[in-house]
Amino acid sequence: MRILASLSLAALAVASLTALAQTPAASKPSAAPQAPAKAKMAAPQVLVAKTPPMGWNSWNFFAERVTDKDIRAAADQLVSTGMKDAGYNYVNIDDTWEAERDATGLLHTNAKFPDMKALADYVHSKGLKIGIYSGPGTKTCGGYAASLGHEEQDAKMYAAWGIDYLKYDLCSFIPDVMQKQAPNDKAAQMRLMIAAYDKMGKALKSTGRPIVYSLCQYGWDAPWEWAPALGGNLWRTTGDIDPTWDRMYAIVSQQAGLEKYAGPGHWNDPDMLEVGNGKLSLAENRAHFSYWAMLAAPLLAGNDLTAMKPEIKAILTNREVIAIDQDKLGKQGFRAYSDGEVEVWARHLSGGALAVAVVNVGSDRQATHPFHLNLAKLGLHGVQKAKDLWTGKDVELTENMPIELDSHDVLLVRIAAPK
Ligand code: GLA
Repeated sequence: MRILASLSLAALAVASLTALAQTPAASKPSAAPQAPAKAKMAAPQVLVAKTPPMGWNSWNFFAERVTDKDIRAAADQLVSTGMKDAGYNYVNIDDTWEAERDATGLLHTNAKFPDMKALADYVHSKGLKIGIYSGPGTKTCGGYAASLGHEEQDAKMYAAWGIDYLKYDLCSFIPDVMQKQAPNDKAAQMRLMIAAYDKMGKALKSTGRPIVYSLCQYGWDAPWEWAPALGGNLWRTTGDIDPTWDRMYAIVSQQAGLEKYAGPGHWNDPDMLEVGNGKLSLAENRAHFSYWAMLAAPLLAGNDLTAMKPEIKAILTNREVIAIDQDKLGKQGFRAYSDGEVEVWARHLSGGALAVAVVNVGSDRQATHPFHLNLAKLGLHGVQKAKDLWTGKDVELTENMPIELDSHDVLLVRIAAPK
C-alpha cells in the first residue's frame, strides 16, 4: 500500500513538474518540438550542495535556549577551532527564533534574536554562511510561528537577510492541513505534504538567491523519490536523532538501500551530528562520524563548540574522514555485508578509490573471537594497501584478516588503488 502510494505520488510530482517545465515551451509560438524542454528537465541545474552540506546547527545542543549570542559564538568557534578550514561553513539557526506576524504578515524575530540581518552580516563577515528554520504549517515543532500562507513573503525576507540555507520542518502541517483537509485519506495527505514542500521550493527559487533547501519530514512517503524534483537538496530519512548509540545506530540501520538516491545536489539526511553530545564514548563518536561519512550525509555538528574537548575536535576535523564524506563523485556508501555483530560498509570514491568501514555494533568486545574480514565479499582480491583514517597509519588488508574491535568501535580505511 505504502509503496504504491509513494510511487503514484512520485509519478504525480514528476508529472506536475513535467507540465510546469513544458509550459513556457508550449506557450511559445515556435516550430521547435518538445525535445529542448525535456532536455532541461533531465539536467536540473545544481547550484548548491554539490557535496553534502557541512556546518553547525543549534538544535542538538541548545534546543529552544539558543540565542543570537550562541550563533555568533558558534561562528567564532568554527573559525578559531579550524572547523571552517576543514569545510564546516553553514551556521544554522534551528527552531525558536520566531515571534509573531504583524498586520502586513511580516514575521518578526523574538527577543533572543534582536536583529537577524545584523546576525547574518556577522556570520558572513567570518566567511561563513547562515541557515534558518521554518515549516509549512501554522506552527513549528517548538510551537513558534511557521510559514503557512506566507511562503513567498518569508522566502523574500530570508533572502533580504542574506539567508543561505532553510530547514523546513513538517510538524503542525500534519494536524493543520493534512488531517483537516484529508481526514482518513493518507495518500491525499501525502499529496498535500508534497505540494507544501513544492510551494516553498518555488518561493526560494523565485528569490534568485542560492539557498540550500533542507526537507525535514522524517522520511514520510519516501522523500528521496520526489524531493530532488522540488529543488530539495537534502531530506531527512528518519525521525530525530538523540545522543545515544541505540538511536544513532537505529537511524543507520534505516539507510541501507537509499544509496541510489543520493548524488551531487541532493542527499539523504540521517539527521544532524551528535558527536560530542550526551554520553557517547569516543569509540561511538568515531563510529557515528564514520557512518555519516560513508553515508555521504550532511555533516552538521550539533555540539557546544565553546566547550569542545580536543578529542572531539580531532574527530570532527579529521580531514581524511571528511574527504570521504565530501568525495566529489557523490556516491553514497552501502552495507556490503554483516557477520554476527560486525558490519562492513563500502563506499566508491573518485579516482577508483574505496572506503571500507568495519563496525562492531554489538555490545560486547569480541576479543577472543576476532572478526575476519572477507575481502572477496568486497570484490577485492589479494593484499590491499590502505590507510587507517583514525590512526593515520598505513595498513595492509589481507584475506581473512583478523580484526579486533571494541564494542561500538570502527576501523575506517581508504584503499587508494583497490584490486
Ligand atoms: C523537529 C526536528 C528537529 C528540530 C526540532 C525543532 O523535531 O526534527 O531536528 O528541528 O523539530 O523544534
